[in-house]
Amino acid sequence: MNVLITGGAGYIGSHCSRYFRAQGVDVTILDDLSEGHREAVGDARLVVGDCGDGELLSRLFAEKTYDAVVHFAAFTSVGESVAEPRKYFHNNVENMLTLMNAAVDHGVGYFVFSSSAAVFGEPAELPIREDHPQRPINPYGETKMIGERMLADYERAYGLHSCSFRYFNAAGDAEDSAIGESHQPETHLIPLVIQAALGKRPPLTVFGTDYDTRDGSCIRDYVHVEDLASAHYLGLRYIMEHGTSEQFNLGSETGFTVLEIIQAVEKVTGLPVPYSLGARRAGDPAVLVAGNAKAKDLLGWDPKKSDLETILRDAYHWELKRTY
Ligand code: UFG
Repeated sequence: MNVLITGGAGYIGSHCSRYFRAQGVDVTILDDLSEGHREAVGDARLVVGDCGDGELLSRLFAEKTYDAVVHFAAFTSVGESVAEPRKYFHNNVENMLTLMNAAVDHGVGYFVFSSSAAVFGEPAELPIREDHPQRPINPYGETKMIGERMLADYERAYGLHSCSFRYFNAAGDAEDSAIGESHQPETHLIPLVIQAALGKRPPLTVFGTDYDTRDGSCIRDYVHVEDLASAHYLGLRYIMEHGTSEQFNLGSETGFTVLEIIQAVEKVTGLPVPYSLGARRAGDPAVLVAGNAKAKDLLGWDPKKSDLETILRDAYHWELKRTY
C-alpha cells in the first residue's frame, strides 16, 4: 500500500509515519518543515514542500499511484488562531482543499484527516462522544470542523472515503526515544512540566485553580501518540474494507487535572516540579474527556499505552535523550 503523509515530520505525523512503515506501508512524507523536523522522518522518503502547492501535488500523484492520503499538515495553536485566523483558514482549510482536489483528480480513494477535540467547543455532556454537537469556540476548531464537512461533501459528490480523528490531548513519545514532541515554542502541559522539573525552563504556571473540578485545575484526557498512530492505521484499513467514511474521538476516557499531572511527573521522574498557581487561560474548558467506545468497537483500537505512567515515562525519556 502506498500512502502520502502530509505533515509527516511533525509530532503526531512522524509517529504515524513510523507506525505505518512498521506495518509494511510504503510511505512518502510531504512536509514543508516549517514546524516539522527532518530528524523525525528517519529514512522515510521526504518531499519538502507545501501541501497547498497544486503543481507539486500533481507531480507527486502523477509519478506514483497512492492508495491514500493521511493529512496532518496544519497549524495547531488555539491562541494563535484567534490572533491570526487568516493564517489558519489559509493553511488548514484552503491548503486542505487543494490537497483533496488533487487526490480526487488523481483517483486517490481514501483520505485520513487529523481533526481535533476542538471541533466540540465547551462540552455539553461528558464523556464527549462522536455525536456530541460541534460548536467550536476558536478559529482552530472551526478549521477542523470545516475540514470534516468538506470531506463529507466530497464523499457524497466524488466518492472520496475518509476517516477523521478528533484527538484529545496527544502526549508521550516513541518508546525508544528515537522521535518525540518538539514544538517551538512549546505550549503543551506535559513537556512543560517535565522541562520545569529538569530546570530547563522557569517554574510552570498552573492556568486556573477555580474550575469546578476535584482540585480546581482543568481536567484533560491524555492519549499516547503511539496509540494515535495505531488508530490511524486501523481507521484507514476500516474505510478501505468497508468503503465508508467515519469519525472517531480518540482519548483514554480518563481525565487528569493539571495538579495531578504535576504530582505524577514528580513520581515518575523523582524530581520536584517548581510551579505557581496562576489565572485562567482564555478559552480553556474546565473538563475535556473523550468517549472512545466507537474506536474500540469498530476498529478494535486498544490504547494500551495511554495510561498516565507510560505517557510520562516515555515523555521523560524523550526529554533526556531528545535529538531535536
Ligand atoms: N496548562 C497549564 N499551564 C501551562 C500549559 C497548560 O496549566 O503552562 C493547562 C491548560 O490550561 C490545560 C492543560 O494544561 O488545562 C492542557 O493544556 P495544553 O495546552 O497542553 O492542551 P489543550 O488542552 O489546551 O489543547 C489541546 C490540543 C489542542 C486542541 C485542544 C482541544 O493541544 O491542539 O486540546 O481543545 F485544540
